[in-house]
Amino acid sequence: MEIQNILLIGSGGREHALAYAISKSPNTGKLFIAPGNPGTADLGTNVDLDTEDFEGILEFIEQEEITLTIVGPEKPLVDGLVDFLEDEEKLVFGPTAGAARLEGSKSFAKDIMHKYGIPTAEYLCFERHEWTRAVEHIHETQHWPRVIKADGLAAGKGVFVCDTKEEALEALEILQNDPNLSTASYRIVIEEFLKGEEVSVFVITDGNDSKILFQAQDHKRIGDGDTGLNTGGMGAYGPAPLVDEALLTKIDESIVRPSIDAMVSEGTPFKGVLYVGLMITEDGPKVVEYNCRFGDPECQVIIPALKTDIVELMLASVHGKLEYINLEIDSGYYTCIVAASKGYPLSYEKGKPITITIPEQEDVFCFQAGTTLGEDGRLLTHGGRVLNVVAKGETLQESIDKAYEAMKGIQFEGMYFRKDIGAKGLRRL
Ligand code: AMP
Ligand code: GLY
Repeated sequence: MEIQNILLIGSGGREHALAYAISKSPNTGKLFIAPGNPGTADLGTNVDLDTEDFEGILEFIEQEEITLTIVGPEKPLVDGLVDFLEDEEKLVFGPTAGAARLEGSKSFAKDIMHKYGIPTAEYLCFERHEWTRAVEHIHETQHWPRVIKADGLAAGKGVFVCDTKEEALEALEILQNDPNLSTASYRIVIEEFLKGEEVSVFVITDGNDSKILFQAQDHKRIGDGDTGLNTGGMGAYGPAPLVDEALLTKIDESIVRPSIDAMVSEGTPFKGVLYVGLMITEDGPKVVEYNCRFGDPECQVIIPALKTDIVELMLASVHGKLEYINLEIDSGYYTCIVAASKGYPLSYEKGKPITITIPEQEDVFCFQAGTTLGEDGRLLTHGGRVLNVVAKGETLQESIDKAYEAMKGIQFEGMYFRKDIGAKGLRRL
């Protein structure tokens, strides 16, 4: 295989984990991360590119003779970065804008599931000019809770689980009036509330073939016991004991394969990582949402478990050659704990000095996210989710204990982290 010069787009913990695996690959030549973070700067060269400036990215690719571009976050995927670069005959790992609509438009995703018989919650869609009908629908609804969602990307702020009619009317009000949500809520989806436990299944696909990489559980709420506000994710672990072999096969047959095949039938095959958010209900697994990329922090537990060379795997997806890949996933358990700034997901202070004194040991990783370097070169907090500590164990308990032990080596003023990452998984064993 030819050595690849790689450009990785993104700056979170997900991208630090990806950069870690890419930098270890014998198939990697030069590695650039745009814009990256201080953690990725130790593994490659950070470049200050605006991820919305497609022309600027193309110029950089030509200048540095980049042979493979890997897109981490959803926004550039939904906005068509892959299409733009493919039109210029560049190799890119990730879905086109047409395929990324599975995440970029919830009504599109629901319509696909409905058309192809993929199990999901019952739903109705309303356009902005049908707002009065949406309000009427809420007044007529007998069964609560219901879930109201903005159609477009909303950085995790567009979903409202409403226990009562009053909460639903309030959610509609926010969706209609919040300027940050106005683009995302040009259309809304109102759907049935699914009861059960959530799990995320990560699939790599080349458009036709697909392989399940990992099943992980995220911890979306800020507080222990899944309480408080929703966040980008406060920790993850996997493989989740909730999904045994039989259930995984069922998810593959009734959800993953039909989803990949549906996108082929629609003329927009999905290449890249498909993240299927599921609810395991009494009636079996149902799709809560699709995402068109790795999750963050789920990626941080998948990457250390991935034994197959990541560059080879991603190129196989790009070239439609996934069937020739022997996917190897480590048999251990992985736990990731997110260290966040006090106040997150609401307002928080930045610029707090960070001390990292985790003893060097195999199978313990520290992936940075919201960090920056101060003028004196000191590592400072710069975001809500600051750092991720990941540990491997032969058992889930061991990986959790090791991760919490390693967390003792991280300090910054106002550091907050959940104390119950993985507890849900232990209850299933
Ligand atoms: P989404 O962005 O669609 O994944 O929604 C964010 C979160 O809202 C999910 O991870 C679930 O916890 C919750 N949620 C979304 N849709 C439903 C549903 N139909 N039933 C129950 N919970 C849901
Ligand atoms: N951890 C949730 C996400 O990446 O969307």
